[in-house]
Amino acid sequence: MARERSDSSELYRAPRLYDIAFGFRDIEAECRGLLRLAARHGVPRVRSVLELACGPAHHLRTFAARGIRCHGIDLSADMLAYARRLCRRDRVAVTFQRADMRHFSTRRRCDLAICLFDSYAHCVTDEDAVAALRCAGRTLRPGGLMVVEFTHPAEYFRRGSARTVERWTQRDARLAVRATFRLTRPDPIDETILASLTLRPMIAGRNGAAPRPLKMRWRQRMWLRGSFANVVAASGCFEIVGWYGDLDRLVPLDMRAQAWRMLAVLRKLPRGAGKGR
Ligand SMILES: C[S@@+](CC[C@H](N)C(=O)[O-])C[C@H]1O[C@@H](n2cnc3c(N)ncnc32)[C@H](O)[C@@H]1O
Repeated sequence: MARERSDSSELYRAPRLYDIAFGFRDIEAECRGLLRLAARHGVPRVRSVLELACGPAHHLRTFAARGIRCHGIDLSADMLAYARRLCRRDRVAVTFQRADMRHFSTRRRCDLAICLFDSYAHCVTDEDAVAALRCAGRTLRPGGLMVVEFTHPAEYFRRGSARTVERWTQRDARLAVRATFRLTRPDPIDETILASLTLRPMIAGRNGAAPRPLKMRWRQRMWLRGSFANVVAASGCFEIVGWYGDLDRLVPLDMRAQAWRMLAVLRKLPRGAGKGR
């Protein structure tokens, strides 16, 4: 099978466009949901959060505004520069590190690690996935939790009503962005799928011409429950303690429409407990 050119980095070089297009999440509510999930699984008071593939770091800014110590990891210098700008704008302190989620280390220790919005799908192979879990595991305190957000698996099989739309328009005070996002060409052997995203800024460019849309596509992993459970076991540092259908402890992971994404909650195992798995 001919391989597609795969490059998502273009997207992350245009952080503002990306951010407007994906600005539909209720970040405050998601942060409340994360803290409630943490409390439900034994961490009632979260004092520090690490985000893998943090992008614009909206969740970290929200947590930092509540007095929680926050550290973000991302591969993209442009995304991190954008995230830092937003922190300065909001006068909140978040520390950032430019690093690959599969190969980072930090001396910081945290109670909660998060990897949201299917960013973990950038870990395409099992080796990538295990490496990222081990890096996150090393930063967590004993009993600490990790929350990973995935695309709901039904999206890959088009079973039941579609949970997400493929075309939408989002705007901020100055700019509207028309977005198209598609998942196509699943590869059942690699368990990957081709993501294609087009972002079209709705402003006149030079000479009144419409600006060129930004087009990107990349292969990402189709994480299903079983394959994720396998890499968690192989990591030797976590156990899965919960599955949810939203960032909400009251929404179970099932085929009902309210479960529109897939969340796994992992607990760090005591040192040595995962050996021999
Ligand atoms: C879809 S964005 C999501 C950002 C953020 N998690 C959120 O919820 O808004 C994915 C982010 O993953 C980052 N990324 C992709 N591959 C990465 C890797 N191997 N290590 C660290 N960051 C990565 C990109 O630079 C981008 O900022």
